[in-house]
Amino acid sequence: TSPLIIAVDGPTASGKGTIAKALAAHYGLPHLDTGLLYRAVGRQVELNLGNPDDAADALAACEFPTSLLDDPELRSETTGGLASRVSIHHGVRQALFARQRAFATQGRGAVLDGRDIGTVIAPEARAKLFITASVAARAKRRHLEMIAAGRESQLDEIAADLAARDERDRNRKEAPLRAAVDAATLDTSELSRDAAIAAAIALVDSRI
Ligand code: C5P
Repeated sequence: TSPLIIAVDGPTASGKGTIAKALAAHYGLPHLDTGLLYRAVGRQVELNLGNPDDAADALAACEFPTSLLDDPELRSETTGGLASRVSIHHGVRQALFARQRAFATQGRGAVLDGRDIGTVIAPEARAKLFITASVAARAKRRHLEMIAAGRESQLDEIAADLAARDERDRNRKEAPLRAAVDAATLDTSELSRDAAIAAAIALVDSRI
C-alpha cells in the first residue's frame, strides 16, 4: 500500500504544529515541521547578511545542522517574519522541496505541517487537514506562549505581525497559503488543545 502521508497546513499559531505532532504520535509516523526549514534559511540570511537563494542552497546540500535547529531564536516571531520574507523566493522553495519530498515518501509515511504540503509537497497525501483559527485566538495563543517562555510580548503587536505574515503568505505567487481542494478544514478558535487533537484524529480516520 502507498505510504500514509498526512498533510497539515494552515496559518501560524492555528494549532497545526500541536496537531501534527499529536497525529504523528497517534499513527506512529515521523513528523516534520517544515516552517523550521524556512526559519533556518531566514536566520542564516539574517546572521550572514546573505542572499536567500544561496542560504537555501547551502542548507539543502548539507545534513541539516542540529545546532541550527537548537537556536532558541528559531521560534521567535521575528524569525517567523524573516522566514515569511525568504519563502517568497523561488530558489528557496526549490532548494527545500527535495528535502521535504524525501521525508514525506520515506517508509510507511509521515506527517508534515506547513503551508503548501497538501498543494505542492505531497498532493497525493492520503489525508489533508487545513487548520484555521481567528487572528484574535491565534494572537492570544502566541502571546501566552511567549509569556510562558519568559519573553517580552505585546498582544496588539503579535496580532499585527500575524496578520501581516498571513497576508504575505496568502498572496505570494508561488505556493500561497490555501487549503487544497480535497482538504478538510478544522477551525480551532473555540477548541481546547485536546478537543482539537481529537477532532483532527477523527477527520484523518474518516479519510484513510
Ligand atoms: O509555520 P511557521 O510559522 O514556522 O512558518 C514560518 C514561515 O515559513 C511562514 O510564514 C511561511 O512564509 C513559510 N513557510 C512556507 N511553507 C511551508 C512552511 C513555512 O512558506 N511549508
